[in-house]
Amino acid sequence: MQVQWYPGHMTKARRQMQEDMKLVDVVIELVDARIPSSSKNPDIDVLAKNKARIILLNKADMADPAKTGAWKEALEEKGFFTVLVNSRDGSGVKEVHGVIQEACAAKIERDRKRGILNRPIRAMVAGIPNVGKSTFINTFAGKACTKTGNKPGVTKGKQWIRLNKNVELLDTPGILWPKFEDPKVGVRIALIGSVNDDILNPRELSLELIRFLHLEYAGILAARYGIEEAEEAAVTLAEIARRRGCLQKGGEYDYDRAAGFLLDDFRNGRLGRITLEDPR
Ligand code: G4P
Repeated sequence: MQVQWYPGHMTKARRQMQEDMKLVDVVIELVDARIPSSSKNPDIDVLAKNKARIILLNKADMADPAKTGAWKEALEEKGFFTVLVNSRDGSGVKEVHGVIQEACAAKIERDRKRGILNRPIRAMVAGIPNVGKSTFINTFAGKACTKTGNKPGVTKGKQWIRLNKNVELLDTPGILWPKFEDPKVGVRIALIGSVNDDILNPRELSLELIRFLHLEYAGILAARYGIEEAEEAAVTLAEIARRRGCLQKGGEYDYDRAAGFLLDDFRNGRLGRITLEDPR
């Protein structure tokens, strides 16, 4: 199954991010904890070369805790600082302050040796659409922050949010697009609901989900819908249609409606905490 998605603003957003990158010391990259690899654009590793790097596994409340632990470890092995966050209710968000100081320890030390004291660290938030960048910025910055504009040496019009005396955050996040070359990435991004539903086929998508769950989370659909999970994904979807009373006029199953129910349940966490990919 191929997901096609070509947003028009891609080049412009990338260029903007390249410019903004010059102004910051640390990049706080958000990924969706249910798909930490598919929701990460590898271009950022090139764009943010030489910057301190923090990866937030956001929406950790929806992800499988054991797998999130494995991802955290794998990312830290690669040299990233990581924090598990739920930007919606704020869990983990406070921890980010300390991690910024840790990630920028070398820069702070360099400044100190050169006699530069109390220069705030500048940070930017980045990530693909819908990973929770705006929600995070709102929760992280809270109400106590003050906006600072047009300072000397800062590109005109840039708005910085002063978080405390140590950190300033660029108020607009950097936007990247997911890399769709691998069809699995497209399917995973679609499953979590981060592409418009009108450009994908919900029935096919739901069959992909059923196949995955049957392998990795056997029994989860049986428990949710009171059905027997079949070897054949289409049979399981028919069972869901039957249990949910998804019938067309002639009495045939309405597979699209059943698929809609299933995808909605998954996206709203009603199937439980599920992670769609493991670290390699
Ligand atoms: P973006 O700026 O990266 O595009 O993402 P944005 O903050 O708009 O968040 C996208 C959706 O993800 C929002 O839901 C937001 O509430 C939700 N979200 C963000 N962080 C978390 C999190 O840690 N956990 C959970 N469970 N959800 C999170 P929405 O349904 O599009 O909007 P709304 O109903 O919350 O207004």
